[in-house]
Amino acid sequence: MIRPILKYGEAPLHQRAEPVAAITPDIERLIDDMIETMYAAPGVGLAAPQVGVSVRIFVVDLSVGRERDGLMTFVNPEFVERDGMQLEEEGCLSVPGFNATVVRPARAVVKALNRHGESFEKEGTELLARAFQHEMDHLDGTLFVDRLRGIKRDLIVTKIRKLTRAGKW
Ligand code: NI
Repeated sequence: MIRPILKYGEAPLHQRAEPVAAITPDIERLIDDMIETMYAAPGVGLAAPQVGVSVRIFVVDLSVGRERDGLMTFVNPEFVERDGMQLEEEGCLSVPGFNATVVRPARAVVKALNRHGESFEKEGTELLARAFQHEMDHLDGTLFVDRLRGIKRDLIVTKIRKLTRAGKW
């Protein structure tokens, strides 16, 4: 089932998500819905708080469903290693219509449980390292806008406030 994607300003996006205690049928349904919602958007990543569930799960598929083994599900993810730095344009399904250059690690290794509760590690570089950091930020209540400084951030926040007041956000 495709779930509505929350937008900047809605509470679950701005709070720290809770660890998943067990892979229950509800959690499995949530993961399935997140995957369906990500593909429908379409997007390359989606975190549970974006569909209003404040738990530590995200899904990533840089191929947006085109590659058989492109889909990855991360439950209770943690960074094992992060190094380097990259600067690229980035957007977010919860901040539609905006993007900005964000500093991210060039390489990141994430340890997590898969949807069967088995532990695994995945290394990402370039876009995948960026996606890992972006989605991990969602689990800590941080959006890419929060990572910006000064005028660029103010500009986006002001525009979102105007859209919100106009009932268009
Ligand atoms: Ni996002």
